[in-house]
Amino acid sequence: MKYSIGVDIGTSGTKTVLFDQYGNKITSSTVEYPLHQPKNGYAEQDPNDWWSATVKTISDVVTNSAVAPCDIVGIGLSGQMHGLVMLDEDNKVIRPSIIWCDQRTGAECADIERLVGKERLIQITANPALTGFTASKIMWVKKHEPENYSRTRHILLPKDYVRFMLTGQYATEVSDASGMQLLDVPNRCWSDEVLQKLDIDKDLLGKVYESAQITGYVTKEAAQLTGLCQGTPVVGGAGDNAAAAVGMGVVRNGRTFTTVGTSGVVFAHTDDIVIDPKGRVHTFCCAVPNAWHIMGVTQAAGLSLRWLRDTVCTSEIAQAQQEDVDPYVIMDEEALTSPIGANKLLYLPYLMGERTPHLDPNARGCFVGLSAIHNRGDLIRSVMEGVAYSLKDCLGVFDEMDVAYNNMYLCGGGARSSVWRRMLADVFEVPCSRTLSDEGPALGVAILALVGAGVYDNVPDACDAIVKTKDTVENHQRNSADYKKYYNIYKELYGQLKPAFDALASL
Ligand code: XUL
Repeated sequence: MKYSIGVDIGTSGTKTVLFDQYGNKITSSTVEYPLHQPKNGYAEQDPNDWWSATVKTISDVVTNSAVAPCDIVGIGLSGQMHGLVMLDEDNKVIRPSIIWCDQRTGAECADIERLVGKERLIQITANPALTGFTASKIMWVKKHEPENYSRTRHILLPKDYVRFMLTGQYATEVSDASGMQLLDVPNRCWSDEVLQKLDIDKDLLGKVYESAQITGYVTKEAAQLTGLCQGTPVVGGAGDNAAAAVGMGVVRNGRTFTTVGTSGVVFAHTDDIVIDPKGRVHTFCCAVPNAWHIMGVTQAAGLSLRWLRDTVCTSEIAQAQQEDVDPYVIMDEEALTSPIGANKLLYLPYLMGERTPHLDPNARGCFVGLSAIHNRGDLIRSVMEGVAYSLKDCLGVFDEMDVAYNNMYLCGGGARSSVWRRMLADVFEVPCSRTLSDEGPALGVAILALVGAGVYDNVPDACDAIVKTKDTVENHQRNSADYKKYYNIYKELYGQLKPAFDALASL
């Protein structure tokens, strides 16, 4: 039997899972770390936390299983996209990583559009300049911290920093590199034109691979730290969403999935590159060669519910401790005590600005319709509904682009909630399914590692052999009709509140 490891370097923690060659989970380990928000709209993490968590979780899975380390034929890396890691000439991290949900770079996005040209930028990078993407973060450091920029010798994405620590190679792969805004997305290589116009030296960037290609081998030092065999291959891997797609078998034309993780994503695989001329959804290379995906993003999906848990649901947390269950289980039960529409309470999930469809770093979260009758059950339900409406907004853009979705796979922490699954099926008006394994991104990159190691010929074949559907929630027309009444009001709120968001941001 052969085995592979998937490492998912997420925003709340790193999860490492050891699988056998049929995708059965042998064991897993997770280590959490903090998200630092030094100012409103800023979001940073320490790359050393990612590396320490990777070392700990890999050594946990190696030690806690009976698998001989040398039977592990490959490692795949996945993780949060877009984060900026800068290394100096001694390969030391220069400053904390500015991560995907940081919103400080509005001015730099305007600079990028001016330097490259708005339309040309979309032609090459398949996306408009976005605060979340890496290029504007690089431009921000250049402008505000020139001494840090001048010391920079290497620029890496979060999982690619971990790759460097594991293998000594400066490398990335097409799916994650697509979110840097420096890649020629149709041609799957760095764009000399964009790099030259933004005056970013190509030598700072790693070599670009396809996701299942081998990018390097575990070094002696990394083997000693983790218990892996020296020389174990590390494949390209994929950004968290492209990796989740592989883990759910969304690797063929017309297949779609939704993640409710820290952020929320709706994702459609496509064999032909399709770009929204208004740039409201992203087009990225996917983990299958010669294929792409279209993706709408809600910045604060699970993050909204976690925020509510941590700020308001202290008694649910206490009850959960007493009953030895997850606080979200108690919160789910409370959400069920509130009807569709949460007793006429709407929530806008813009805690970290918003991407699809508004592309607005100034947007902020709101409860609209608060009344003295509302209790915590209503608040919880309205947060869950607001996230579902925001994801529905993403599907609205898919509709305009003629991207079909007939069945939606669900993953991420939110998919564990039966309340959220039913809500998403009713709001999206399509059946929503789960796969047997809920290890999405970790399984996805473990599959890529198996392909890289030659256990399977290609990614779709590997998915056919490994990924199975677990259950499906059918949508109910009556519920959908009820949700639609609230969604129609929700849809109008952003435009009505925009002047207030901008005024608050300018204070
Ligand atoms: C995708 C995105 C998020 C992050 C964090 O564009 O920003 O999905 O990868 O999960």
